[in-house]
Amino acid sequence: MSNNKRTADNVILNEEERNLLLDHDYDGIEEFDYPLPSWWVWTFIGGVVFAIGYIYFYNFAGAPTLRDEFDQKLAKVEAIREEQRKLTGDFQLAEFQAWQKGENADQMAAEVYEENCLSCHEVGGKGDIGPNLTDAYWLNIKEVTPVKIFSFIRVGNEDNGMPAWADMLSKEELFAAVHYVLSVKGKNTPGKEPQGEKLED
Ligand code: HEC
Repeated sequence: MSNNKRTADNVILNEEERNLLLDHDYDGIEEFDYPLPSWWVWTFIGGVVFAIGYIYFYNFAGAPTLRDEFDQKLAKVEAIREEQRKLTGDFQLAEFQAWQKGENADQMAAEVYEENCLSCHEVGGKGDIGPNLTDAYWLNIKEVTPVKIFSFIRVGNEDNGMPAWADMLSKEELFAAVHYVLSVKGKNTPGKEPQGEKLED
């Protein structure tokens, strides 16, 4: 008998390879006893170690549950909403527009303006201490829409001399102030020189 053991028609095993052969045989299929590649072994060990840590962390060490994480995110969303609410004061465009259609909107706008805004923004909003509200240039407002004007009048910019009106005017009076600003917008009444950015509107 030759020294070489035949495992398949064209395969001749040498001494070293024969030593590696396991001594079982599945219908003529034989198996080498090769060690698993070390990258595989370490990946496996790493996986086991990670899994133990993971299971421990999430089941026993008081890690946040999915529910906790969801609640934390929701709290952040709520905080942003609250911030937004402070700014816009729950402004509803439909409510404002319905108010504008009321009989004395123009008159109330004129009164609120005269009483609270005239001293700084001058007759017809032509500007003095405060900017000219009739030109196309805006300092604080980045988008000339009712909600932006409403929000800005509420919070003002006290560092630069524009009071916050949120606590001084009722919602209706704020509507009136917005209505006034919108009514003089675009009239380009000569007065205070343009300030800020030109907005197309
Ligand atoms: C005490 C002075 C003062 C009073 C009173 C005042 N404002 Fe102002 N207002 C200012 C100043 C100053 C600015 C510009 C702020 C800045 O430079 O950031 C301003 C800015 C504005 C702007 C933004 C203009 C822009 O270019 O973006 C609007 C709108 C406005 N005021 C509306 C009103 C309304 C409505 C009232 C009355 C309810 C009012 N203001 C009362 C001083 C005043």
